[in-house]
Amino acid sequence: MDAASRPAVVIDNGTGYTKMGYAGNVEPCFITPTVVAVNESFSNQSRGPTKGNWLAQHNASVMADLDFLIGEEALMRSRFSTTYSLSYPIRNGQVENWDAMERFWQQCIFNYLRCDPEDHYFLLTESPLTAPENREYTGEIMFETFNVPGLYIAVQPVLALAAGYTTSKCDMTGVVVDVGDGATHIVPVADGYVIGSSIKSIPIAGKDVTQFVQQLLKERGEHIPPEDYLEVARKIKEMYCYTCSDIVKEFNKHDKDSRKYTKQWSGIKPKTGASYTCDIGYERFLGPEIFFHPEIYSSDFSTPLPVVIDKCIQSSPIDTRRALYKNIVLSGGSTMFKDFHRRLQRDLKKIVDTRIVSSAVRLGGDVKSQPIQVNVVSHPIQRFAVWFGGSILASTPEFYQACHTKAEYDEYGANICRTNPIFKGMY
Ligand SMILES: Nc1ncnc2c1ncn2[C@@H]1O[C@H](COP(=O)(O)OP(=O)(O)OP(=O)(O)O)[C@@H](O)[C@H]1O
Ligand SMILES: [Mg+2]
Repeated sequence: MDAASRPAVVIDNGTGYTKMGYAGNVEPCFITPTVVAVNESFSNQSRGPTKGNWLAQHNASVMADLDFLIGEEALMRSRFSTTYSLSYPIRNGQVENWDAMERFWQQCIFNYLRCDPEDHYFLLTESPLTAPENREYTGEIMFETFNVPGLYIAVQPVLALAAGYTTSKCDMTGVVVDVGDGATHIVPVADGYVIGSSIKSIPIAGKDVTQFVQQLLKERGEHIPPEDYLEVARKIKEMYCYTCSDIVKEFNKHDKDSRKYTKQWSGIKPKTGASYTCDIGYERFLGPEIFFHPEIYSSDFSTPLPVVIDKCIQSSPIDTRRALYKNIVLSGGSTMFKDFHRRLQRDLKKIVDTRIVSSAVRLGGDVKSQPIQVNVVSHPIQRFAVWFGGSILASTPEFYQACHTKAEYDEYGANICRTNPIFKGMY
């Protein structure tokens, strides 16, 4: 059986979480934090002074290469052992530590997916602003370390749009609003091609919401063990935060009936084993509010997400704009807040309607323009839309033709990975 007749491996490496599994499945097999814990004692020995025993040093270096963990296991181990240090290979959507990334992939392939990489084609993802050099590094690691027979590196938002392919009609024109853990990108796509010059990014994503929730809890003096603060804030965010329609009204609602809206968190202190509880109040709606009123969180950035989406569409070619407003697709874990899509749609519609009215006034009120349909699409697989899109594309026959193969890599080198053809057959 050749590799092209086996399901391709699909891995979406995110700043916060990696989604991995096999093409054709509806869900990733694993969603695990993108983190590596390395045993520092071996790493230090292997880097020690050269006059020591070289054999011991060599062994330490081999052990450093072997003794590491990823994902939840890495987080747990570093919590209870000081010899392991954590390394996050991806920052703001870009790989920053290639050694750690290679180790991470190694465990994903051999320990999680338990496959032989030589037997499967691979589909990996990248952020829309990734430099071509990074694609070469990815290619080098995949073809040389793992010896994969074929590789395709897809742009994350394009995959998020392709995730709609299972629905009766897949529209490959739209704006993808991908709000992950470390990066928020607003990416217009026309007929499957990213309109590169109109991509917008904002420096607010999931980890900022977590930090803001943590800050609010701290300011109120909730008794959470310091070493647990960030983790508890993240869980509170994921379980209890929601998007409100009006912040002033929401404060009033909470004040009038605080028993209804206040939630409780209970946990166990890792050091003493004692239990503790804390209240969860305004942070429930103030957390996600930073996308709509960033000034409450950051003094450096103050443009609300709906305004940035509008700017993105307005800077795209004029003949694509109507279609873009009509298909604004959400992707990424941080779009999962309850009613997030409603608020986004309402705020964006207000901006568009105001512009139509003011342009009609400017033209003397005689010209009536066609109303613009603003549609923010929300779907149940938002959390891993990018992975799902990858799973769909990698299960088509066109995928195997679009991949770069090991033979091509051996003949032409890593620069073949700089570009990846769009699957023409799909659109
Ligand atoms: N139900 C939920 N409600 C709100 N936020 C959530 C929920 N589930 C996960 N998240 C948040 O979504 C973020 C992870 O999303 P995702 O996996 O899309 O990001 P990523 O791909 O790791 O990051 P990036 O795309 O920025 O590189 C985390 O901040 C996580 O806390
Ligand atoms: Mg992502």
